[in-house]
Amino acid sequence: MFRINENYLKLPGSYLFSTIGKKVGEYSSANPDKEIIRMGIGDVTLPLCPAVIERLHSAVDEMSRQETFMGYAPDLGYEFLRNAIVENDYKARGCDISADEIFVSDGAKSDSGNIVDIFAEDTKIAVTDPVYPVYVDSNAMSGRTGAYDEAAEKWSGVIYMPCTSENGFVPELPRETPDVIYLCFPNNPTGTTLTTEQLQVWVDYALKVGAVIIYDGAYEAYITSENVPHSIYQCQGAEACAIEIRSFSKNAGFTGTRLGFTVVPKALKCGGVSLHALWARRHGTKFNGAPYIIQAAGAAVYSPEGRKQTGEQIAYYMNNAKVIREGLIGAGYDVYGGVDAPYIWMKTPEGMKSWDFFDYLLEELNIVGTPGSGFGPSGEGYFRLTAFGSAENTVKAMERIKAGKA
Ligand SMILES: Cc1ncc(COP(=O)(O)O)c(C=O)c1O
Repeated sequence: MFRINENYLKLPGSYLFSTIGKKVGEYSSANPDKEIIRMGIGDVTLPLCPAVIERLHSAVDEMSRQETFMGYAPDLGYEFLRNAIVENDYKARGCDISADEIFVSDGAKSDSGNIVDIFAEDTKIAVTDPVYPVYVDSNAMSGRTGAYDEAAEKWSGVIYMPCTSENGFVPELPRETPDVIYLCFPNNPTGTTLTTEQLQVWVDYALKVGAVIIYDGAYEAYITSENVPHSIYQCQGAEACAIEIRSFSKNAGFTGTRLGFTVVPKALKCGGVSLHALWARRHGTKFNGAPYIIQAAGAAVYSPEGRKQTGEQIAYYMNNAKVIREGLIGAGYDVYGGVDAPYIWMKTPEGMKSWDFFDYLLEELNIVGTPGSGFGPSGEGYFRLTAFGSAENTVKAMERIKAGKA
């Protein structure tokens, strides 16, 4: 008789956003006249920019003609896209990354979930707390996280690195030595960043203890501060200890179109084995490439028009972030993030539990956000609002918060 992967049964219950969806659904069915403003899920709302749409159309036309039709994409992705990535995201920032170190994919979620495939079964992972849940859950699915403690909301085999207002949301080096360290900056959910010097500490540490850093830079495009690195490869020695994962979702609105990439430098080795070779093998075996039309559209993001238009979209969201930040500060809340990220992380008032504050916002102000505790135990007492809504709704939400009523 077949057996299932029992690690799946260890995963804790309902998913954060389905619980939120259920609560909001019940509230709006009971109160159909209320206008609910959604600032919960981190999905973009602006349509794809004209440069991307034009290239999508022309790439579709290419697929209709015998001479320009494209079948399976090359394993690593089309060279035109990998070259554009190298020029714009790496060379322009002084990083020594070459096109054959880039693996184009269908997004950062898949890559951050799949990367576990190339590490040993007894790999010890370290994550920041709160954290984007995919890193922990994907390791739990492959049996690397030990037992789940419901009360503590922690896995026995995971090293948690609390990021709270007390340490300025900067993780401290762990006492126990991890094999793989997940870092995401600008951070989801806290919206905070590390300076180049702070990230260099992690690179030096990983090199010293022989760990790998999985660096998730999905929100890189939102960085506005000078001393915040856009890539981990801006730190010295990072090519020998870091894998970087990037996405077209938040910089260019590809959440529904799907495109991302992972950088595995050839210098990154375990003993004599290159991680690049392992990931190439994994990618070539289990993934058959992002669609040509989507990769063509991705390259259009780097065209002069594409850069200008996506830049305007980011500026639109960041203006919302400013409105939220200033609105909340004006209303007396402790507020973090929102300067280099589309996420605003706030302390709940008077030590209120995250879910109680969720209920208060939904029922009294008709605003939906995300309870911080959903991202890990150190998120308790915090709350996340996103800047991805419309400018009108963002202003309206802040008016409600200031007035204390809907
Ligand atoms: C930190 C982080 N990484 C990755 C993703 C997923 O990116 P993608 O849409 O490319 O799968 C998200 C999406 O919210 C995210 O917050």
